Amino acid sequence: MTEKDFIFRNNSTSLGAGKVKWKAPSNIALVKYWGKKAGQIPANPSISFTLDACSTTTTLGFVPRNTPSDEFSFDLWFEGKPMEGFKPKIETFFKRIEPFLPFLKAYHFTIETSNSFPHSSGIASSASGFAALALCLMDVEKLLNAETTEAYLKKKASFIARLGSGSAARSIEGDLVHWGSHDGTIGSSDLFGIKYPYEVHGNFKNYHDTILLVDKGQKQVSSTVGHELMHDHPFAARRFDQAHENLSKLKSVFKNGNLTEFINIVESEALTLHAMMMTSQRYFILMKPDTLEIINKIWAFREASGTHVCFTLDAGANVHVLYPEEEKEEVYQFIQNELVAYCENGQYICDRIGFGAKKM
Ligand code: DP6
Repeated sequence: MTEKDFIFRNNSTSLGAGKVKWKAPSNIALVKYWGKKAGQIPANPSISFTLDACSTTTTLGFVPRNTPSDEFSFDLWFEGKPMEGFKPKIETFFKRIEPFLPFLKAYHFTIETSNSFPHSSGIASSASGFAALALCLMDVEKLLNAETTEAYLKKKASFIARLGSGSAARSIEGDLVHWGSHDGTIGSSDLFGIKYPYEVHGNFKNYHDTILLVDKGQKQVSSTVGHELMHDHPFAARRFDQAHENLSKLKSVFKNGNLTEFINIVESEALTLHAMMMTSQRYFILMKPDTLEIINKIWAFREASGTHVCFTLDAGANVHVLYPEEEKEEVYQFIQNELVAYCENGQYICDRIGFGAKKM
């Protein structure tokens, strides 16, 4: 499919005032997206576990406007309070998606949004946030065009969400989502995420992700700036190739259930992401001393226990502790005994693999 397939054409139905509501999950990448081209096109393909507990719920109210206007019209509420500060991001988003949703200026929108995870937990809400808003907008498109199928709604929602935040393209479906063109993945596209199309071994069903909140403060360098720094990065070309290689290796791992190989790929991806940050110009470090303490504890425990607990990181200091359903009691005990002490105010979130966004 090309961008042209996502342009909305049928606008014959007139639509009065109404409301739609969606809940979209967060996701954690196993192979990381870091670096992009113009138009939110990823420099390399990525794959993620969709999460279950960490989510954003958004209600989108719409009222037809009486007079045509060149401006977008919307109010934004975050957890029950007006959120003026976030409006420029939505304005930019609306500008990017208007060619595909040309009805946007015909309505006044009220966007009410809330997260399941604590505000300023250091967990990025952009993936779940843009996914929930994209799904709401697609629901309006469906009301305007009854021929919109469920499959198209989801695909275009991922396409639209990507234009808000790249990783949001992976927050529509579950439980494993692939985004970005990759020779070994049938149907893969830079424009939208797809449900991973191959066999997945039982070892990966119900996988757990306990998110240790190591540092809840504002990050020194945003993801957007980090992506930017991959242009002219001395190791960028090799890194992008490596992501393709890791995706091909993961395909066999997902099929045969080899957890040792899974750990090897996932931890290497996390450290490579941070290595890219440390070697960009300008260079920066988002890990904190406690991030490293936790990593070392995980390695020591894995060695001693023979379990398959491992970690991944996103663009911050928090640690995602990943482990299979079969080992959940033993690993959870370890987290309680040895890792929670490194969390800011002892805070962590128990999450697991989830099955995608839901209409409310
Ligand atoms: C490290 O999706 O937040 O989490 O497209 O600029 O909004 P923008 O970036 P974003 O980048 C996420 C980067 C990452 C890795 C990943 O999720 O794949």
